Amino acid sequence: MYQKREIADKVFYVGVNDRQKHLFENYLSLPYGVSYNSYLIVDEKVALLDTVDLSFSDHFISQIESLLNGRPVDFLVVHHMEPDHAGSIRLLKTRYPQMKLVGNKKTFDFLKGYFNIDADLIEVAEGDSLSLGKKKLVFYMAPMVHWPEVMVSYEPESQTLFSADAFGTFGALNGSCFDDELNLDFFWDEMRRYYACIVGKFGMPVQNALKKLSALPIKTICSLHGPVWRAQLEKVVALYDRWSRYETEPGVVIPFGSMYGNTQTLAEAVAEGVVAGGLQNVVIHNVSKTDASFILADIFKYNGLIVGSPTYMGEAYPLVDALLTKIKERGVKHHVYSCFGSHSWATGAVKRMTEFAEAMKWEVVGAPVDNKFAPTEDALQKCFQLGEEVAQACLKMKE
Ligand code: FEO
Repeated sequence: MYQKREIADKVFYVGVNDRQKHLFENYLSLPYGVSYNSYLIVDEKVALLDTVDLSFSDHFISQIESLLNGRPVDFLVVHHMEPDHAGSIRLLKTRYPQMKLVGNKKTFDFLKGYFNIDADLIEVAEGDSLSLGKKKLVFYMAPMVHWPEVMVSYEPESQTLFSADAFGTFGALNGSCFDDELNLDFFWDEMRRYYACIVGKFGMPVQNALKKLSALPIKTICSLHGPVWRAQLEKVVALYDRWSRYETEPGVVIPFGSMYGNTQTLAEAVAEGVVAGGLQNVVIHNVSKTDASFILADIFKYNGLIVGSPTYMGEAYPLVDALLTKIKERGVKHHVYSCFGSHSWATGAVKRMTEFAEAMKWEVVGAPVDNKFAPTEDALQKCFQLGEEVAQACLKMKE
């Protein structure tokens, strides 16, 4: 039946696909779109689990109404207050004025701050449950598995975990919400890109949440973005465990900035050195062309990073500088690192990129190359050697 997506007895998918937005959080590109997932439990009581971006509220509410046949929503469970999920709360409250909002103490600070809502609240804490009739929800706090107010809930009868942003992916859902009915090919990379960009800073909170939830028997994971996981549970949990421990595989990412091609020529020599050093996994990114979110996703995949930049106004090239800041913000660990650059009259980029390594507490492998004017044979040879040394250190790191 059209749009009756039943996840378990009395549990329905009522999310929406966003194929309009170019940028998530207004800075992360969305080539495959994104879904905002919401779930409805229709038992003796009706519970709606999270809402969607306000732009899609019309379609969202019409799905709810068509499942409820005139029944009201009794509870809105707010797992996370970021507006991609909380955006329609005020509208929902207007549509269902008797509806109670279920959240934790921190949720309610956000609810008051964003929507000036401070009535009809049911506060839950770790281990509390909310009875819906035959079903119930048990709550577990998951602070900083993106924001401080995040919590997840578990429905024991169907063994379903409602996991907030955790296990989410970029990418809209093409014809089904279920992982076993979708072609997942692009979702795996989009899941890592989502993790790196959204959750990547919060490795320890993710580890804490995984430990806490590991005792629960789980048949289905309902995240707030991307597929409902029921066939790939082991894989998605293993991926989250791996990424949140900042585990990587041997490979080198070479992001470079280049105004007129000289630093790019150095980057090509570095890459040849990496391959000669024994690694086939080499990804070169032009920071002016590739959205930083894809570069971050590769940095979360591979254990080597060699950054290239021309000196620009005595500093690193602006887009390289911005990338370094994004890496630092995410507290990326365990990387073999080096850098190279070019300049014409004053240097600065290599100094910035070396200081970045110190701030990250990463060792700089090999001798950074800082070439003056167009690449010289000597500089290209040194870049090749740098690539070789980094590749060997990456392979050694995994021994
Ligand atoms: Fe999908 Fe942190 O919101």
